[in-house]
Amino acid sequence: MANTIAEVQKEILRLKKENDICILAHSYQGREIIEIADFVGDSYALSVKAKSVTNKTVIMCGVRFMAETVKLLSPEKTVVLSNKNAGCPMAEQFEKDEIEYLKNKNKNLCVVCYINTTTELKTVCDVCVTSSSALKIVDKLEEKDILFIPDINLGTYIKNNVKDKNIQLLHGGCPVHACVTESETLKAKEAHPNALLLVHPECVPEVVKHADYVGSTSGIMDYAKASDADEFIIGTEQAIVETLQFECPDKSFYPLSVNITCRNMKTTTLVDVLNCCKGTGGEVIELEADIMEKAKKCIDRMIELG
Ligand code: 13P
Ligand code: SF4
Repeated sequence: MANTIAEVQKEILRLKKENDICILAHSYQGREIIEIADFVGDSYALSVKAKSVTNKTVIMCGVRFMAETVKLLSPEKTVVLSNKNAGCPMAEQFEKDEIEYLKNKNKNLCVVCYINTTTELKTVCDVCVTSSSALKIVDKLEEKDILFIPDINLGTYIKNNVKDKNIQLLHGGCPVHACVTESETLKAKEAHPNALLLVHPECVPEVVKHADYVGSTSGIMDYAKASDADEFIIGTEQAIVETLQFECPDKSFYPLSVNITCRNMKTTTLVDVLNCCKGTGGEVIELEADIMEKAKKCIDRMIELG
């Protein structure tokens, strides 16, 4: 019976080949999962990848909205969420009816949603964005009246960087990134005066304004790898600090706050992935055909504009 991490990984690799499975992992997953994944990336890269996967089954190691995005883009595939309890609390913050009400009040309103939203909510949105594609997509939109949901912090970042649009925001956000404070940021900078500060736009504006670079998970990783600097304070999930330190042993990476740990992303274990490969674990994503058709439109528009 498999019992060490290496043995479980070996068994996953065997089963994945035997059962024609592709494993996608968000970069916040633990190292042991990243090592057995076919593709690792941020939300945008995962959605683009989901379109081109040729395997019969896709296991998504991340949170629910990511697995639902894969299903929307590849409806003919069996898509399995690695652990049925892995959800993103931000994705659940607004109801479809609330947004429909606002759209009815202003027929010109273009609703731009962060990909961290439920499939049901996406049915009433016009275009979807991720943290890496948000500025580019909102800038390209012809529409002037924009409602960005649900993240007020990413929304504020967009508002501050995209001109000539009337951008309205609602009070949603990521409970993990939003808890980092400005005073923690100033302390981290004081402790590491030579380090560059790289921050995810889900952090509050008081933190973002001190950043040397603001970007998605992959954006932060690419920036740190390409930079000539030796030290970095990382303002996103702890997994990124660990991965960067692992991949760039000659540089030093410090967490902006030890509190930036997403429990939902960490819910998936290697054994969950093993059980998914055996067909006994996770949750097979089932979405109603008409909901899928409506929700897919805003994802397609994201890929087209991104
Ligand atoms: P990315 O778009 O950077 O992958 O972010 C997803 C996410 O959930 C960040 O908290
Ligand atoms: Fe959701 Fe925040 Fe976790 Fe990302 S880090 S999955 S936005 S709760």
